[in-house]
Amino acid sequence: VSLKPYNTFRIDVNARYWVEINQEDDLQTLLQLTDHLDTPKLILGGGSNVLLCHDFNGLVVRLNIQGIEVVREDDAHIYLTAGAGVNWHKLVMYCVQHNYAGLENLSLIPGTVGAAPMQNIGAYGVEIEQVFDSLTAIHVQTGEQRRFSHADCRFGYRESVFKRELKGQYIITSVTFRLDKQPTFHTRYGAIQETLTDMGVSDDELTIQAISEAVIRIRRSKLPDPAEIGNAGSFFKNPEIPKTQFDALKEQYPNLPGYPIGDEVVKVPAGWLIEQAGWKGHRTGDAGVHAKQALVLVNYGQASGNEIMALAQRVQASVQETFGISITPEVNIV
Ligand code: EPU
Repeated sequence: VSLKPYNTFRIDVNARYWVEINQEDDLQTLLQLTDHLDTPKLILGGGSNVLLCHDFNGLVVRLNIQGIEVVREDDAHIYLTAGAGVNWHKLVMYCVQHNYAGLENLSLIPGTVGAAPMQNIGAYGVEIEQVFDSLTAIHVQTGEQRRFSHADCRFGYRESVFKRELKGQYIITSVTFRLDKQPTFHTRYGAIQETLTDMGVSDDELTIQAISEAVIRIRRSKLPDPAEIGNAGSFFKNPEIPKTQFDALKEQYPNLPGYPIGDEVVKVPAGWLIEQAGWKGHRTGDAGVHAKQALVLVNYGQASGNEIMALAQRVQASVQETFGISITPEVNIV
């Protein structure tokens, strides 16, 4: 089975076996049936955060568990559970339409609900952990269901327990969000303010609908649409460097942007570093660095996973050489 339709990088590799799962029971049955087979398994949601570098000699499971449901509410909050296979942006639009606040800054992120907590998706000043209540997951070997609280997930910047200690061990089947009845607007991010002004929205007219619209406009203007050009969003994480190193670099590069994380560490936008190192808009064969956002690697059509990886390594080496900063992939390399 070609996996090309199932990954947003549009990499054409084959899987030995492929199955689509529409409900949790079926997943448990599948895991019991295949337990003795000793075949590697790869779980794909929207396939929007992976780079597939070779054929997969095992079973690819595409999770397509649907459903959005309000499970409880209190004076301030709505608790809403969504199936792992629900399209992320569809969930955001559902909340925006119903005036459930909290997800609007995360509009138009590709992928599915189940994949979102894995890497604690974030954009424009909000990370999923801020609205996360809990999730349910199935253990790959035992088929046992487990509930994970916020603390259990051990969220960090583009990180969770599912990318570290429990990597490959659990399959997320549903996620519960805690949304606000009274919105708190997150508009600190410069581009949001500018776009709201362009849209003619003043502070006292602010709504979650307007913020969602602003985010959609920003993303459309900077980020490639996976339906048109293969990509997986940011390819690298923004590196965190010691403040001493940041201060030294700042003397050499006065425009170097940075966001302090505590007193000792500064987070630097990898996109800036990659652009300064001369890679923005670069293309080798069908592998490229996006012309409007250097943090995003793109597949113009026929690039292989290894060709994208080779380009990524050249970019990494170049940033290391120019700035002495090591950048690491945010995308899962398979
Ligand atoms: N910049 C450049 N050149 C570039 C790209 C960025 O100079 O080619 C500079 C910008 O001028 C700006 C700074 O870098 O000062 C930040 O850029 P941007 O606002 O585009 O955000 P980012 O740090 O590049 C992160 C997330 C994105 C998210 C945006 C908005 C990571 C790895 N990426 O990108 O997430 O949409 O912030 O919040 O943290 C994703 O994870 O797939 C993703 C798109």
